[in-house]
Amino acid sequence: MSNVIAIDGPSGAGKSSVSRIVGRRLGYLHVDSGALYRILTWQCLAAGVDMESPEAICAFASSVDIECRPEDGRVAYYVGGEAPGERIRTPQINANASKVAREKPVRDKVTALLKGMVKYGNLVVEGRDITTAVFPDSPARFYLTASAEARARRRQKEEVDKGIANQSAEAVKASLLARDAMDSTRKYAPLRKADGALEIDSSDLTLDEVVEAVVSALPKEWRA
Ligand code: DC
Repeated sequence: MSNVIAIDGPSGAGKSSVSRIVGRRLGYLHVDSGALYRILTWQCLAAGVDMESPEAICAFASSVDIECRPEDGRVAYYVGGEAPGERIRTPQINANASKVAREKPVRDKVTALLKGMVKYGNLVVEGRDITTAVFPDSPARFYLTASAEARARRRQKEEVDKGIANQSAEAVKASLLARDAMDSTRKYAPLRKADGALEIDSSDLTLDEVVEAVVSALPKEWRA
């Protein structure tokens, strides 16, 4: 049986950086579940799917084949043999991902992919419904959060550093809050803190401090 560390939280709370470092430290594969929703959004947009039509989104998303491969400490994704790279991190995808992620057939598809990944070994999985719906029985569940200002600052810096976009902090904050609102109020598997998950507010913590807080809360035998 594989160990699964589950980390949920809103956009920009630091889930990816923390999950990557925790994974590297323990030799667990990092799984970015948001990237799967982003890939389906990217494919819908590229195919000209009407993003206001749930039926069109569901029909098209069900036809997209995502190949998952453990690689360099993470589970990597390919569509038609191609890695999506930064193409799934654009403001356009940020603005449309929640519309795709709220659909039940889409969630079922991604959840099945995620559950199947335990065959690759121990995992650290980050997302919005990992602690509540995908791996609710994991003994290592975390809810990572931070103030809206701190989250917007981090996301904006990331976009500029990676050359993805050059939006103002205000624009990034507005987009992030809009996405959080949709992710937390949707009907299926909304973002919420799971009962029993350890909440960590990273607003005033360094990355190392958050990593330490996660690792020290793991079952003792997982830390070896
Ligand atoms: O974490 P992210 O920003 O890359 O996520 C992209 C979108 O997917 C965002 O709207 C939230 C959604 N998501 C989700 O609904 N469930 C997950 N487990 C992960 C992401």
